[in-house]
Amino acid sequence: MVLPPENPHNTWSGRFAEPVSERVKRYTASVAFDRRLANVDIDGSLAHARMLCSKGILSAADLRHIEDGMATIRAEIDAGTFAWSLDAEDVHLNIERRLTAIVGDAGKRLHTARSRNDQVATDIRLFLRGAIDDIVIHIRDLQRAIVEQAGRHAATLMPGFTHLQVAQPVTFGHHLMAYYEMLARDAGRFADCRRRMNRLPLGAAALAGTSFPIDREQVARALAFDDVCDNSLDAVSDRDFAIEFAAAAAIVMMHLSRLSEELILWMNPRFSFIRLPDRFCTGSSIMPQKKNPDVPELARGKTGRVVGHLVGLLILMKGQPLAYNKDNQEDKEPLFDTVDTLTDTLIIFADMVAGMEANPDAMLLALDEGFATATDLADYLVKKGVAFRDAHEVVARAVRAAEVRNIRLEDLSISELQAFSPLIEPDIFAVLRADGSAASRSHRGGTAAAQVLAQVTRARDALK
Ligand code: ARG
Repeated sequence: MVLPPENPHNTWSGRFAEPVSERVKRYTASVAFDRRLANVDIDGSLAHARMLCSKGILSAADLRHIEDGMATIRAEIDAGTFAWSLDAEDVHLNIERRLTAIVGDAGKRLHTARSRNDQVATDIRLFLRGAIDDIVIHIRDLQRAIVEQAGRHAATLMPGFTHLQVAQPVTFGHHLMAYYEMLARDAGRFADCRRRMNRLPLGAAALAGTSFPIDREQVARALAFDDVCDNSLDAVSDRDFAIEFAAAAAIVMMHLSRLSEELILWMNPRFSFIRLPDRFCTGSSIMPQKKNPDVPELARGKTGRVVGHLVGLLILMKGQPLAYNKDNQEDKEPLFDTVDTLTDTLIIFADMVAGMEANPDAMLLALDEGFATATDLADYLVKKGVAFRDAHEVVARAVRAAEVRNIRLEDLSISELQAFSPLIEPDIFAVLRADGSAASRSHRGGTAAAQVLAQVTRARDALK
């Protein structure tokens, strides 16, 4: 079979008797998506070339040509004039081919002591490292928006739920700060992941290392890696750092999905706890009364997609023998989509949370319906010497009496209450009120306004 004239030879040329079909070419090529690695790929190539030159493996003139050629290529890519070609398969070969077209033989020497296997492993680490740094900034922006709302609503009372049934009074600020804590751990997970990821694969070459007298530490320093990978087979083949990244991202999305579910509930007219700005909602094409919480709903939906990427990456890796296998080319699209989905979600949520308006009257109304201070009554009796289980029983009877008459616990008269336990005295009414209940939980981590404000202060410090 004769090779098509526009493709006189593949990069591995002489060994092959026939070209791949157009369909196979499309199937095996990654340039349509991995071109997104172009900038980090060039960073890696330049660090590699400079090291080769300082070790006498590449001449100073060759290095100069490579540096100039790469500057041209970067400019072409930025300007959108770079001619990406499916024939060159991936981002690495596209850039190398163009470099050789611009600077000649120096371009052909760049790949000395290197393989696309250690090259791509380096590129993904550089890409994800940058993504982590951006994502952590977005997480902190969202935390800031949460902290501001929490400061505003440190004393705003709402029902706290367990089993989605009214449980005890909490402050809205306290509820919001729970998400601050989740996001703080999320940022920490990315920092942990970055630390393990930040090692240089280059030097591993195809899998076994290289016979050239390279200086891997020099390349690591140039690319701001903390160290080099200690095993060449591991360096080119494992993608556990990508899986960790996807896991950290999936956990953030899971947290934001829980928040989304709450925003959706709170927006329901039966709750009416909050209003979201119209720019995060849409109407219905048929039902004129509707205002739908599209953004939280989509975030909840997109969480499934990011979790899917995590599972996909785990399955991608699980059957691979050492060392590099082409399967790994499939790591990129899920990673890119994870970065994009998480980034958009975080940015939009920071804006949405900042614009959220609470409706304290509706929250208070909901609180009145759920006997939320029943535990406070039980605790009151315990403090007077009643065993907790007995107190629980006394309060259960009081709740039933109030429920039958459709009134709140605090609406029972003192003599009615005393019929359940003679230990109850008029000071009980302060205990039965939601504000007293919340204010009494004033230890670190408790729901009292004073504690929320203290937590807000700590958070503002941490976010500086
Ligand atoms: N495009 C490949 C990838 O993304 C680059 C490495 C290919 N190496 C190879 N020997 N075919 O993984």
